[in-house]
Amino acid sequence: MKTNYKFHKEDKITALTGAGISAESGIKTFRDRDGLWENHRIEEVASPVAFSKNPEMVWEFYKQRYLQLAKVSPNSAHFALKKMEDFCSSNFNLITQNVDGLHQIAGNINVLEMHGSLRQCFCSKCLHSFEMKEIDFEQKIPKCDHCSGNLRPNIVWFGEMPYEMEKIDKILENTKYFIVIGTSGIVYPAARFLSIAKYFGAKAIEINLEYPINSVVLDEFHLGKAGILLPELIEKWIT
Ligand code: OAD
Repeated sequence: MKTNYKFHKEDKITALTGAGISAESGIKTFRDRDGLWENHRIEEVASPVAFSKNPEMVWEFYKQRYLQLAKVSPNSAHFALKKMEDFCSSNFNLITQNVDGLHQIAGNINVLEMHGSLRQCFCSKCLHSFEMKEIDFEQKIPKCDHCSGNLRPNIVWFGEMPYEMEKIDKILENTKYFIVIGTSGIVYPAARFLSIAKYFGAKAIEINLEYPINSVVLDEFHLGKAGILLPELIEKWIT
């Protein structure tokens, strides 16, 4: 596999990951051929309106997603990104749209979870946050210990503002390399990050199983599985 780049420790490097990086760990991506996410239309389970209409069904859905996490582990692509952070420490930023926490389990520290985390929830009334492992799933709609409000998963749903946006804006302005891994690039604002980083002068690299919709702005594209390509590429970039 050919790449034109060599990274240095002082280079600012950013990776943006999507569901594709966790596919080889056994977690289903969002936009498979049937257009359904674990048998649900995304908007049925991932919006504040869906939660207010049917909190029980939304909780059951995220409970299943959370319980699935106990059975999965990081794959070689996650570990390759840990190697990247070891190489350039705080010059490496990892922005993820994933909510599975596998980057942190692989050892990455500098992770921005812009869509939240399946491993946490918070009270929709008083905003107190809880670890999912503390939750008693016997309750169909878990309640807050402090105010008895309905808890909700700490997931950024459609129509809500993603986390860490101020930090992300600064990172995009200053990064020298922007590496996009396993995302379909159709959910905003993450879909815009590549063009912003390019606008500020970054080299753009993408790894995906399919040809991307935004290929015109890419400096390098690698077609294939992240778990195979990323370890090889990172080895070439940092040695
Ligand atoms: P998608 O399901 O939209 O896209 C997954 C991408 O990963 C596709 O482009 C696949 O071609 C690619 N892919 C699959 N397996 C791969 C592999 N082994 N190696 C490399 N690439 C692979 O997932 P996202 O783009 O992450 O938001 O979706 C973005 C957001 O949409 C999600 O964060 C989620 C959803 O609504 C929330 O739930 C808040």
